Amino acid sequence: MKQTPSSRSMAQPLTAPPAAASPAAAPADWLDERTGWRGLLRQALEERIPGGARWAYVFGSGLLFLLLSQIVTGVFLTFYYVPSADHAHTTVAYITKVVADGAFLRSLHAWGASLMVILIVLHVAQIMLYGAYKGKRELLWLSGGGLMALVLGMAFTGYLLPWDERAYFATAVGTNAISEVPGIGNTLKLLLRAGPGMGTLTLSRFFSLHVFIIPAGLLLFVLLHLLLFRKAGPAGPPSADPVRPAAKTEKFYPRQVLMDAGFALLLIATLTLLATLLPATLGPRANPADTRFIPRPEWYYRPLFQWLKYWEGSRVIIGLLVIPGGLALLFLGLPFFDRRAERRPWRRPFAVGIFLAVLGGLVKLGVTSYRADARNPVVAAQLARQAQQERAYMRQPFAPSTSGGAPQPAPAAAAAALNPKQAAAIADGKKIYAAQGCIACHGDAGSGTAMAPKLAGIHAKLSPAQLSALISQPTPAMSAKGMPPHFNLNTAELKHLVAYVESL
Ligand code: HEC
Repeated sequence: MKQTPSSRSMAQPLTAPPAAASPAAAPADWLDERTGWRGLLRQALEERIPGGARWAYVFGSGLLFLLLSQIVTGVFLTFYYVPSADHAHTTVAYITKVVADGAFLRSLHAWGASLMVILIVLHVAQIMLYGAYKGKRELLWLSGGGLMALVLGMAFTGYLLPWDERAYFATAVGTNAISEVPGIGNTLKLLLRAGPGMGTLTLSRFFSLHVFIIPAGLLLFVLLHLLLFRKAGPAGPPSADPVRPAAKTEKFYPRQVLMDAGFALLLIATLTLLATLLPATLGPRANPADTRFIPRPEWYYRPLFQWLKYWEGSRVIIGLLVIPGGLALLFLGLPFFDRRAERRPWRRPFAVGIFLAVLGGLVKLGVTSYRADARNPVVAAQLARQAQQERAYMRQPFAPSTSGGAPQPAPAAAAAALNPKQAAAIADGKKIYAAQGCIACHGDAGSGTAMAPKLAGIHAKLSPAQLSALISQPTPAMSAKGMPPHFNLNTAELKHLVAYVESL
């Protein structure tokens, strides 16, 4: 095109632009001009670590690595998994028994969760001992606390998804424990379960929490955690000042990068070994009517499980709210209370002492729980039977079962309206309720008396299986308050009695 004399280019001659990189000739340059990735990478690799690289610093990046592994294995699991009471168990069975390397993939995911909990403990222990939460790192510490809660939330919501006996009953116990929180507990439980019982809606909700809601929170908090970490910088060894570490520094690359990578390799090896030697099992499909199943949570929830046993009746508020809440506040508030610049652990006996005491207490609670199970012959026999059932189920070839299965425990009254057999059971249960003398203490239609609490509405608190277990074997605390320890009921009578009480 011809330039006219009036064109501005006559007055301001164009200088030739610098030769722009073409994407084909130099893709890295082309990308750098548009993203600035070189600068970002340099910034990341040249981050200065006061006091130099150390193996003690690998836990944070190890957690990030495990999170990525959980995302990848989790996404693959969702290719097959269907979150409904009818399909969940059978799709997990399909993953475990049919899909190529499906059992391995699922085991990686299950063991990854356990390893994450272990790494969180190590990461927190390192920061505690090094006093690395000090020096303008309050928000970094709080974001870490948020991450910890989210990871525990992932473990809790993921546990239900296989919908086998173990998953179902452990989650029933877990959600019941939540309902003990005074004031909001029951609402919280209803919200989590999407109703008084546990069924497809519960699974959808847990699935949604496990793959959308909590992961979104996790990614957000990881981003925040990393940004705040970049801003504060590494704290360095405990001898250094938390704000202006004087120790001589070393760049993140190469030694710390190599250590982090070495640790990631160690994690891969550990996961592979665990997933191969101790693959995650799957038990028979959840049967809410099973009254004998003894639920036990994953090992990292054992201490809490044991702890809750010590608090019953009106004292639950102390065990569930006051003490854990106080400890959580103490933990989260640590960088706000502990303002001294001193970081060496032996100069901070109070903070380090409390941390070690709580950690020791948790270990003790967990060990106590396992030992109590091993020592009680009835419990030990039932747990062994359950493990045996799981192994037997694992040996069976895959058989799709998507039709109906065990009925979901709807509130008994609603079920009776649809089902004449259920109505008959409830009518019979009413007679047993009177004949066994329940009526004398718990009142007509479970309305309650001065002697015993009301039972009407108990379906929101206890599933039929739990109610049945409670009636056939009241807890010592209940017996102490006057609930007879034993009734003469056969299986059918117990079932009808439970149906009646749940219908109130
Ligand atoms: C002698 C009086 C008495 C009789 C008879 C009795 N109970 Fe109880 N029951 C109690 C007391 C007292 C409690 C409350 C214990 C507590 O607060 O922990 C209780 C608690 C319960 C609970 C737990 C309530 C809750 O909210 O956790 C259930 C369920 C129950 N009884 C069912 C029955 C059934 C069913 C029968 C008949 C087979 C029966 N009880 C007979 C006195 C009695």
